[in-house]
Amino acid sequence: MKRIGIDAIALAVPEGYVELADLAHARSVSPGKFVDGLGVERMAVARAHEDPVALGANAARRLFAMSGADTSRIGLCVVGTETAVDHSKPIAAYLHGLLALPTACRVFEAKHACFGGTAGLLNAVDWIASGSARGRQALVVCTDVARYAIGSAGEPTQGAGAVALLVSENPRLVELEVGVTGSYARDVHDFWRPLHSKEAVVDGHYSVQCYLDALTGAYEAWRHACGTDYSEPIARRCYHVPYGKMAKKAHRHVMALEGKGEAEADASYVEEVGTSLRLPAQIGNVYTGSLYLALASLLEAEASRIEGKRVALFSYGSGCTAEFFAGRVASGAGAFSRALRLAEPLEGRRRYTIPEYEAIRRADADADRRPIESANFGAGTVAFLGVEGERRVY
Ligand code: HMG
Repeated sequence: MKRIGIDAIALAVPEGYVELADLAHARSVSPGKFVDGLGVERMAVARAHEDPVALGANAARRLFAMSGADTSRIGLCVVGTETAVDHSKPIAAYLHGLLALPTACRVFEAKHACFGGTAGLLNAVDWIASGSARGRQALVVCTDVARYAIGSAGEPTQGAGAVALLVSENPRLVELEVGVTGSYARDVHDFWRPLHSKEAVVDGHYSVQCYLDALTGAYEAWRHACGTDYSEPIARRCYHVPYGKMAKKAHRHVMALEGKGEAEADASYVEEVGTSLRLPAQIGNVYTGSLYLALASLLEAEASRIEGKRVALFSYGSGCTAEFFAGRVASGAGAFSRALRLAEPLEGRRRYTIPEYEAIRRADADADRRPIESANFGAGTVAFLGVEGERRVY
C-alpha cells in the first residue's frame, strides 16, 4: 500500500493587514465583537498587484525553495480558487508558466467555493494512488482574495493569501488515509460571488447553519467509511476557518455528534483545535486555503509533539459541499516543519489604517483593467503589473 499525502506546505500573504480592533472602531462596533466574538485579530488586505495569480505563484515558489522539491517532477498542477481572473484561462496556466513546470503536466483550476483546494488535493491523492503519477508529484495551490461589501457583517471576515501543497508518495508532513473520506453536498444559497461582482453575497447566519449541517453529513459519512478504524483516537482537528469562532462551533458540533456536551467540547477544544487557529487569526479567511492554513498553523506550533498522531480535517465550500478525512503526522515532520519556516511570510507586514484599506478597496474595482505599471516589488516576487492587449502581465 502506497503512503500518500502532503509532503510540504508554503504560504504567501499580502504585505499589509488591517487590525480588527481598528476596523471595529471605524464601524462603531465593540472591538470585542470582532476579536473575541469572531475570533480574528487581523485580516490580510491584498493590493492590486497581489492578485490570486501573484499570491499563488509566490506560495508555490516558496514551496520549491524551502522544501528542496524539484519542479521537473510535477505531473499535475491544480489551483483551487474562487477568485478567478478569467472565465477561461485558469490560474494554473499562469502558474505553469511562472514556475516553468514541465509541458508533460495536467493543469487545471478547480472551483467549488472554499472546497476547491480540497478538490485539488483529493484528486492529486487519487492520481498518485491510481498509478497515473508514475513516480511524479502534484502541486496543489489554493489562492483567494476574500471580499465582502465595506460596512457589511461579512467585512471583518475577509482575508487574502495562498497555500501551496506538494502532494507525493512517502510524504514528509502528513500521510493521508487514502480512500477513506466522508462527502456531503446540497444545493443551497448561503454564499456566492455573482459574475457581475467582486464581492461575495452572503446570508451569514444561514451560512453558519449550512456549514454545521454539512459537517454532520460529512462526519457521519466518514465514520461509516472508516469502519472499524473509526475508534482510533484523533489527536488534533483542523476545520475550515472562515473565522476562528466558526471552528469552535464546529468542534462543539462534532463533539455533540459523539454524545459529548458543551463543557466537555470546550475542554478538548484548546488542545485539539487551538494551535490550528493561530495563523488564521492573523490573516483572516483565505477561502480555498483556509483549512490548509489551519494545518500549517498546527504544524508550525507543534508538529514535533504530534508525530505519529492522527489529525482530522474538515473542508467546507459554500453552495455547498464538504469532506471529512484524516491523516497521520509523519515521523520527522517536526524538524521538517521548522525547516520550512511556515510562518515566515507573516513577518514584517504593514498595518494599514482604515482610510488606506478603503482606498485599496476602491482601487480594486478597476484593477483588472489597469494599464501596465512598472514598479519594484522586490527580487523574486511575482506581481500583477497590469493588462496589455487584454493580456494580464506578471
Ligand atoms: P454578525 O451577525 O454581525 O455577528 O455577523 P453576530 O451578531 O452573530 O456576532 C458574532 C459573534 O460575536 C456572536 O457569537 C456574538 O455573541 C459575539 P456567537 O453567538 O456566534 O458565539 N459578540 C461578542 N463577543 C464578545 N464581545 C462583544 C460581542 N458582540 C457580539 N462585544 C457573521 C457574523 C459570521 C454572520 C458575518 O461575519 C458573516 O456573514 N460572515 C461571512 C460568512 C461566513 O463567514 N460564514 C461562515 C460559514 S460559511 C463558510 O465558512 C464558507 C465561506 O468560507 C465561503 C466559501 O465557502 O467560499 C464563507
